[in-house]
Amino acid sequence: MNYNVILIDADNATWIHTQNIFKRLPQLNLVSSYREVKSALGQGTVFNPNLFLVDIEDNANRNSLPEFAEIFPDAVVIGIMSKWDADKAFESIRGGAIGCLIKPFSGEDILDGIKIFSRGVKNTKPRSFTFFSAKGRSGKTTLIANLALSIVRQTGDMVAIIDADLQFSDMAIFFDVEPMMTVVEATRDIKFLSPIRLNAYFLPVAENIQLLCGPRRLEYSELVDVESLTAVVRMAQSLFHYVLIDLPSGVSPFSTNMCEIADTVFVCGMLNTGFEIKHIQRTLPMFTMWEQYGKKLNIVLSRVDDKQKPDIERQLNHKIAAVLPNEFLMVSAANSGKLKNVMDYHNLLSEKINTLAGEIIRDAY
Ligand SMILES: Nc1ncnc2c1ncn2[C@@H]1O[C@H](COP(=O)(O)OP(=O)(O)O)[C@@H](O)[C@H]1O
Ligand SMILES: [Mg+2]
Repeated sequence: MNYNVILIDADNATWIHTQNIFKRLPQLNLVSSYREVKSALGQGTVFNPNLFLVDIEDNANRNSLPEFAEIFPDAVVIGIMSKWDADKAFESIRGGAIGCLIKPFSGEDILDGIKIFSRGVKNTKPRSFTFFSAKGRSGKTTLIANLALSIVRQTGDMVAIIDADLQFSDMAIFFDVEPMMTVVEATRDIKFLSPIRLNAYFLPVAENIQLLCGPRRLEYSELVDVESLTAVVRMAQSLFHYVLIDLPSGVSPFSTNMCEIADTVFVCGMLNTGFEIKHIQRTLPMFTMWEQYGKKLNIVLSRVDDKQKPDIERQLNHKIAAVLPNEFLMVSAANSGKLKNVMDYHNLLSEKINTLAGEIIRDAY
């Protein structure tokens, strides 16, 4: 595919650089450059552009992004910035940009960016979910893997799973992959990465699902710091339409930071002894406080029957988003890395997770 490109940037060096890189790539044809977005939106139509490179460090440019979709419905917009800024990137994507490149980018970066950023359907605004549990063995990883599969089936969008359960990261086992790159390498390198480079740290594990695996060894978890992990997740939010984050159990700077940058928190628990309800009760105030600020809270309990639900809701004084039944076959398949084999196997657990996925996809957000 060939692109008629319009550059919108007030910086001379970027103009010269862009002209130079375009000379070598016949697919990219720079039809015009503007210093400000107003002129591009007014005069740009004559050039029949289908790709805009827009400096999103400029506030006026960012604010005008929704207008591009109206005036040029068939064109794609890529944000460009000299230094990665997650807030500006995310704001631009919510405004209609498909992704962001960091200067100086090459012509190949632009073509890679178009390919990577256009994956999926993107019917809604980008979403991020964290999965919290008071204790281990709460059904968290099982829920995330199945939810990811269900979201892809229902939306056709790109889903990323980030295994930030640093010490007991099981997601690679669920999907039967052995990673070269993990969250350890991604956090080590994050200061030097751009979204398209970060993409290479994710491993495709199923159609439209990519996984950033947890540390290969328990002791490597010590190498991951909260600040870098937060930066990785925020960059991933500009790269994937859904980001699902598996957390270490219990309250820690890791779990609270991750929940803070997600729009929806799942509080997960598995009913074994009955104490689990007490543990959830104890953690709930932390999350209900966030509900006042628009963060969504979904409580999901595994190995619970529908019959038990009303009573537990009364005890928790909070609505439960889903109760998941005891499902031996699906779970033993997942534990042995054969999750994909039983994906289409019909059972109550997957039915419940499909319903839950449908509800959270439709959440007004
Ligand atoms: N719905 C379920 N029914 C039966 N067993 C389950 C279910 N969900 C999870 N399990 C079992 O519980 C164990 C812990 O689940 P997992 O998803 O790994 O939880 P966590 O990630 O919170 O530790 C799994 O090994 C699996 O055997
Ligand atoms: Mg787990």
